Amino acid sequence: MSFEVENKPAKKAPYVPVITLDGPTASGKGTVASRVARILGFHVLDSGLLYRVLALAAQHHGVALTDEQSLEVLAGHLDVQFLVDSRGESQVVLEGEDVSRVLREEKTGMAASQVAVLPQVRTALLNRQIAFRETPGLVADGRDMGTVVFPDAEVKVFITASAEARAGRRHRQLIESGNHASLADLIEDIRQRDVRDIQRAVAPLRPAADAVELDNTLMTVQEAVDAVLALVARNERLVRFLPDQLHP
Ligand code: CDP
Repeated sequence: MSFEVENKPAKKAPYVPVITLDGPTASGKGTVASRVARILGFHVLDSGLLYRVLALAAQHHGVALTDEQSLEVLAGHLDVQFLVDSRGESQVVLEGEDVSRVLREEKTGMAASQVAVLPQVRTALLNRQIAFRETPGLVADGRDMGTVVFPDAEVKVFITASAEARAGRRHRQLIESGNHASLADLIEDIRQRDVRDIQRAVAPLRPAADAVELDNTLMTVQEAVDAVLALVARNERLVRFLPDQLHP
């Protein structure tokens, strides 16, 4: 009789590194996150999308954005798929309906920031976010990625930019994607969203104690990406994921 099988040590799950990018609305996190992820071959979690999807689902089901109990149930049963279409564009399907476009609208962001203040909603969405941590690695973009969802992340960045720069960027983004937007309204929206995100009791927007702050008001996207990659290069668990030409 052989005990070889029983004696074999349990196969250890591979360690999955995480890079977190947190920051206020329209600070450029999403763009930087997807570029960094592409370079490293990592997955991306756009956590704001989950809050946006939940806000839309609530509207579909006639649930008030303040009804914490019903929102918690809805968050636990979200029928949502994150797909990539034949042109490489990401697509979000909620209850069988393509909601990609309405998800990006400013009013959906505002509604998302309302449901995001509710503690039971945040807890209900936690496991869904953690499940994105898959090999070889993850770049997670949000408000509380480094503080709450992935406190053990290898690299944590807190990305900021002035309110004017952020409003200008969001304005361009919305116009380019065919949405209507007024700059004055956007500045006001951004101000309201900042206040709500910073002042909420649970998982408020703030840098993790071990986060590096990156103010990209005067930077191009590429400069911000390079700044994050420089942190990756200095991390011994992450450096091996850099393409050869970017090795220090
Ligand atoms: O694109 P933008 O930064 O404006 O928004 P988003 O990242 O899609 O997030 C929409 C809203 O969800 C934010 O205003 C936050 O209130 C909330 N959120 C959050 O509370 N925690 C996260 N990890 C991500 C988003």
